[in-house]
Amino acid sequence: MLKRVLKIVLVTVAILVMMPLHAGKGGGWSTVGTARLTDIEIEYITFMREEEKLARDVYITLGPAWGQTIFGNIATSEQQHMDAMKTLIEKYGLIDPVVDENDVGSFVNDELDELYSVLVKRGEQSPYQALMVGALIEEVDMEDIQLAIDATNRKDIKAVYEGLLCGSRNHLRAFVAQIESDGLVYESQLYPDDAEWTAFIESVINSPMERTCGARRR
Ligand SMILES: [Fe+2]
Repeated sequence: MLKRVLKIVLVTVAILVMMPLHAGKGGGWSTVGTARLTDIEIEYITFMREEEKLARDVYITLGPAWGQTIFGNIATSEQQHMDAMKTLIEKYGLIDPVVDENDVGSFVNDELDELYSVLVKRGEQSPYQALMVGALIEEVDMEDIQLAIDATNRKDIKAVYEGLLCGSRNHLRAFVAQIESDGLVYESQLYPDDAEWTAFIESVINSPMERTCGARRR
C-alpha cells in the first residue's frame, strides 16, 4: 500500500505542478478478541477504517468549496463505510485508529495524512479537479478493498468489504457521470498504462448503478 500511496502523491503533485492555478504486509497469527485474525487481516481492517475516513474527509472538505452536492451525498455513504469497519474493529477487539471521527483531515497513518493534504490541494483548484480527485479516490479504494478481500477467508469480513467495494463502484460511476456531463471522457488515473486495470475501470463505468450494496444502499 505504501508504494502505491507514494505513487499517487507523486502523480498528484506532478499534476499540481503542471496545472495552471485557474483551473508491508506481516504474516503469522495474532489472538485478538474472540477470534484469531492474521496480522494482515488486522492491518487491512485498520487501514480500511482510515481509508474510508480519507474519502469522507476529502469529500466533506471539497463539497462546500465548490457547492457540488455529489460530495455531500457520497460523504454520507463513506460514513456508513467507516461505521461498517468500526463494527469489525469492535467485533474483533482491535484498536480503532480513528480517535475522533469529527476531526476531519486527521489520520494516524502518515501516508493517508499526506494523501489527504495533496488531494484536497488538487481538488481546491477547480470543480473539475475536485471531481477527478473523487474518481481517483474511488479507484484507489477499489484496488485496496479487493486486496483486503483476497487477504482473508472470513465470510463476515469479506461481506463487509464487498459492501464497500460495491459502494466504491457506484461512487466512481457518480463522479464520472458528472465529469462526462461536460463532454469529457474519463480514463483511469491510477494505472493509465495498465490495460487490464483500465479495462476494469471502463467496465465499471459502463455498467449501471447497483441499487443495493449488500444490506446497504449505495
Ligand atoms: Fe467511496
